[in-house]
Amino acid sequence: MKSIFRDDVLEKKVAFVTGGGSGICKGIARAYLAHGARVAIVGRKADRLEDAARELSSETGRECVACPADVRNPQEVEGAIEKTLDRFGTLDVVVNGAAGNFLAPAAQLSYNAFRTVVEIDTLGTWNVSKAAFQRHLRDHGGHIVNITATLHYAATPMQAHASAAKAGVDAITRSLALEWGQLGIQVNGIAPGPIADTEGLSRLAPPGYVEKLVQTIPLRRLGRIDDVASCAVWLVSGAASYVHGETIVVDGGAWLPGMGGMMSF
Ligand code: COA
Ligand code: NAP
Repeated sequence: MKSIFRDDVLEKKVAFVTGGGSGICKGIARAYLAHGARVAIVGRKADRLEDAARELSSETGRECVACPADVRNPQEVEGAIEKTLDRFGTLDVVVNGAAGNFLAPAAQLSYNAFRTVVEIDTLGTWNVSKAAFQRHLRDHGGHIVNITATLHYAATPMQAHASAAKAGVDAITRSLALEWGQLGIQVNGIAPGPIADTEGLSRLAPPGYVEKLVQTIPLRRLGRIDDVASCAVWLVSGAASYVHGETIVVDGGAWLPGMGGMMSF
């Protein structure tokens, strides 16, 4: 998809993108690089992350560095932010996209299963935002973009864990916007709907289900990774400079019929 933004609109900016080794957040990292930013991508699997960083750098001609870390571990997160600052000297944009999910009825979710998803999505978003704030954003301002979902707007079956986790992410978006806006830190979220060619969709939409799902989406198509990435560029480009504490839904209207765009299976 050709961008309507100038290809230097993010020149001199440095972005730290968790979950940037795959899927939607790799798409966001790619879009940021393509618009002039330098980018650090974060995930647990060092090999996949290194491969993604190499691929994105060679594709865009701009610097992308892999910073392996588990967002559940504050020390690892601080290490990854330190590595980013050592390499690039600044940090302007934090994207919290790391997440875990699977389909499971509440009756079959173990204590640990529920906790694991909340720890990755909600605590991970907090750990990364807090570490970036302390180390750099507090003194320099910047952007935080939290990748969330629409699962919890109504209620989605087999998604009690992820719905609770993303509701927590949305609360963090609003709280940090309220408290950190005065420091020049713009905090927003993006709530994608069902996005084609992603791990998330393949986990949540069993075989044969996607066709039925598309018929319930007002725009009658799945989202594309670029649909989300262009929103992520817009939010940090300066064009959205008065948008704050808001979560932008990018879902073709999918959640409007209810249940977060993922109707009952
Ligand atoms: N249904 C029910 N429970 C499940 C499950 C499933 N499909 N998958 C994992 N769990 C449970 C495990 O059984 C375990 O609980 P237990 O200790 O009571 O048995 C708990 O969740 C943690 O699993 P574990 O594999 O140890 O966690 P992890 O930290 O290694 O991995 C996950 C986290 C489970 C979220 C894993 O799927 C992951 O790494 N996901 C990242 C990619 C992803 O989810 N992408 C989509 C984003 S929308
Ligand atoms: P994905 O490719 O599986 O992305 C998740 C990323 O998070 C992976 O790169 C994974 O890398 C990383 N991650 C997971 N646990 C981590 C941890 N503990 N520490 C650090 N990194 C971790 O899935 P996706 O579908 O593109 O989803 C991206 C985001 O969009 C998620 O926030 C998701 O909730 C949201 N979303 C997606 C959809 C959709 O249709 N796909 C819909 C709504 C919302 P490692 O495994 O290497 O750690």
